[in-house]
Amino acid sequence: MKPLVVVATLCALFTLSQQAPSKDKCMCELTNSEKAFPYDKLGNLEGNAVKCNSDVTSQKARKLQSLMMGLERRLPELAKDIAVLDSENDEQMYAAISLQLINNELWEIQRLMDELNSTTLSYQRLSASATQQLKGMRGKMGELEAYDSMQVVKRQQDNRRLTRDLQECRTGHQHIVQPTRRPRGACPHGKFDNVTGPRVNTAGEYPGSYKYGAWGRDPRPAAGTESWYWRVMLISSNKYGHYVRLYTSLSSLIVGVSTPGNILISPSNPTTNTIQGPNAVMYDGALYYNCYNQDSVCRFNTSTKTVTTVKLPAGTRYNSKSNFCILDECYLYTDLDLATDESGVWVIYTTAQDFGNLVLAKVEDTEPPQLGQPRRTSVYKSSVSNTFMVCGVLYATRYIDRSTEEIFYSFDTSTGEENFNVGVFLHKVSPNIISLNYSPVDQMLHAYCDSIMVSYKVLFS
Ligand SMILES: *[C@@H]1O[C@H](CO)[C@@H](O)[C@H](O)[C@H]1NC(C)=O
Ligand SMILES: *[C@@H]1O[C@H](CO)[C@@H](O)[C@H](O)[C@H]1NC(C)=O
Ligand SMILES: *[C@@H]1O[C@H](CO)[C@@H](O)[C@H](O)[C@H]1NC(C)=O
Repeated sequence: MKPLVVVATLCALFTLSQQAPSKDKCMCELTNSEKAFPYDKLGNLEGNAVKCNSDVTSQKARKLQSLMMGLERRLPELAKDIAVLDSENDEQMYAAISLQLINNELWEIQRLMDELNSTTLSYQRLSASATQQLKGMRGKMGELEAYDSMQVVKRQQDNRRLTRDLQECRTGHQHIVQPTRRPRGACPHGKFDNVTGPRVNTAGEYPGSYKYGAWGRDPRPAAGTESWYWRVMLISSNKYGHYVRLYTSLSSLIVGVSTPGNILISPSNPTTNTIQGPNAVMYDGALYYNCYNQDSVCRFNTSTKTVTTVKLPAGTRYNSKSNFCILDECYLYTDLDLATDESGVWVIYTTAQDFGNLVLAKVEDTEPPQLGQPRRTSVYKSSVSNTFMVCGVLYATRYIDRSTEEIFYSFDTSTGEENFNVGVFLHKVSPNIISLNYSPVDQMLHAYCDSIMVSYKVLFS
């Protein structure tokens, strides 16, 4: 097998070209060219951004600074990923994944650049004294842009095509994908068809810390919080948490600038009504989760800071008795999985009388919350690694290998139809997807993977 030919220096300009894939070979050539990334310029730019702080409003300045920090943080990640690709020189399979990651990094950098660009433009209307400095910054940004046009931040489409071709090549001689029946179910977007990504892939504020957690968007946000993101971390032994952390935008979450910060459920944990297990979701300004030492869903209202509770049916397994599992390992305290879809909040669980098969019910957002009619499935919970809901259809995943998870099962709550042959694959950035939930606002799947926050786009047909 001919190895992947990689000639690339870190963060150097590169071009990608592909050789025609033969029957048993996937090859990708990275060719180094031109000069290294102008880190010094980025540094000066950031220095000026800091100086600028005194002249513009503090909130705007924070945003600008966070964007700069974001750029600074993404670039070494890109360098790292290229280094990985470099070292995996004869693992064509991993190379495809690595390329996907690089594509993702590039996409993120481009997005930050765009946002930085629009932010500095809006600053120009702010104050006369700031304008002069901003002019200088825009000039330097222009140089960074030029660097971009010289393909540092490479055309997204080229990468996509290359990645796709490599993946096709990869699946072409790995296994034959069996034709699958698509799950039915009325949906404003059409039928659930496939998943692409990862789109967002970030270590966020605490890189490498808090292996268990969840993140996402509130599908029914209060006015003024439409762009907000939330994150829950199980800060005690990967089991318990006692606050939800809020971010006013995706880039704030990526660079780790949290305002308004933590919204405390209680001053410590674990205690009555604190969070147990990673499968929490936010909906309508409230956090829904399995609460400490109870077979109940707790709803924490973030504006009133009060908790209301709905108990699950007798026989419901809790306190880490029926968890999601992969291979011979299970994810602690995943007895209750909360999920959002177009219709609201669901809880997925199992009971002794259902012999460990998945059961799901709607959590009606009444005061206090109430449970809808339970729906029974014939899929065994410990054979499943995660579940999520899209348009009233339950989907279950299973672990394939360190880099792949399969959405293999669906249950349509409107027809009761089950499908064990969904056959949609997720490309993972880390082996364990601790929590997975669907955001109906933007049709993204949010995954929390060993402390990394990743999102995938759901495609409908
Ligand atoms: C920045 O914004 C200006 C004006 O909207 C636009 O002409 C320019 O192409 C933008 N640059 C980047 C890198 O997006
Ligand atoms: C899903 O998309 C990937 C490429 O992103 C493709 O390789 C795969 O065949 C698609 N799967 C299905 C079931 O359409
Ligand atoms: C939270 O409390 C406020 C004030 O009582 C109420 O208007 C709102 O509907 C509550 N939210 C949820 C999700 O119960």
